[in-house]
Amino acid sequence: MTSNQVASHYSNTRIVDSILLGLERAGIERASVSVDDLGPVDEFHTGGRIATEHLLKDLQFDTHKKTLDIGCGIGGTSRFLANRFDTTVSGIDLTSEYVEAGIILNQWVSLEDRITLQCGDANNILSENEVFDLAVMLHVGMNISDKAALFSEVARLLKRGGEFAIYDVMKKDEAQIQFPVPWASNESMSFVEPIEHYKHCLEGAGFSIEKTEGRGEFAKSFFRKMQESAKSSDGPPAMGLHLLIGPSIKEKMQNFAQAVFDGLVEPTEIIARKL
Ligand SMILES: C[S@@+](CC[C@H](N)C(=O)[O-])C[C@H]1O[C@@H](n2cnc3c(N)ncnc32)[C@H](O)[C@@H]1O
Repeated sequence: MTSNQVASHYSNTRIVDSILLGLERAGIERASVSVDDLGPVDEFHTGGRIATEHLLKDLQFDTHKKTLDIGCGIGGTSRFLANRFDTTVSGIDLTSEYVEAGIILNQWVSLEDRITLQCGDANNILSENEVFDLAVMLHVGMNISDKAALFSEVARLLKRGGEFAIYDVMKKDEAQIQFPVPWASNESMSFVEPIEHYKHCLEGAGFSIEKTEGRGEFAKSFFRKMQESAKSSDGPPAMGLHLLIGPSIKEKMQNFAQAVFDGLVEPTEIIARKL
């Protein structure tokens, strides 16, 4: 598995055009679009914006702090943070189309001064040591095989005492999940691990574990709502993840939902602190 294969899995050259069509269908003017209007499309993780708010509710963001958004996608979490807390965010992502689209979306909502998005690999981030106060990573670790190396890189970039919030899909059972899923076309690019592996790698990289929370029941309720809305004769809502993922969303979400309902995987939060 190469990082190119992961980027190809996510690749979509029509993101901005699709979002423009979604906005038109929703009756939202491009000139007046808000960070909240983009939320249903740009938060590519289980439960979207609600899950982001839950993960980050106890962390202290403010104007003077710098946050690193690892695997930022098209920048939904970065925009949420910059907008809500007036904080400065640097996002990094492997998929160039995501970064390019994210930069345009930042301009639409006038946050380009507070957010920098760059294309790059989370295992090798171009930055000096100990510059960030906080780091967030939502639904990215499933694509990264060497979590010990990833967490060492995050530890290098965080200041001492800095918090690291993770929200990843983690393994609950050894049974095989069906592919494709939202993060992987096939098994070769999926590195879902149990929470014990995350804790072990985080502690090895110099973090203490502050809090963990399984979000399985929340995920099940999210999937039930999605399944109900898919059955509706109106089709999917104007603004939704289908604009980002494309037509394969149905099969990917069905396989993911099944794995959650069968107890094979669970979206899980970890808050860790650099010692
Ligand atoms: C499921 S999406 C989540 C995006 C974003 N965190 C969000 O929640 O909206 C996973 C993202 O991780 C990125 N990614 C995967 N492996 C990566 C790596 N090694 N370095 C940087 N980004 C990576 C992908 O390009 C993709 O944008």
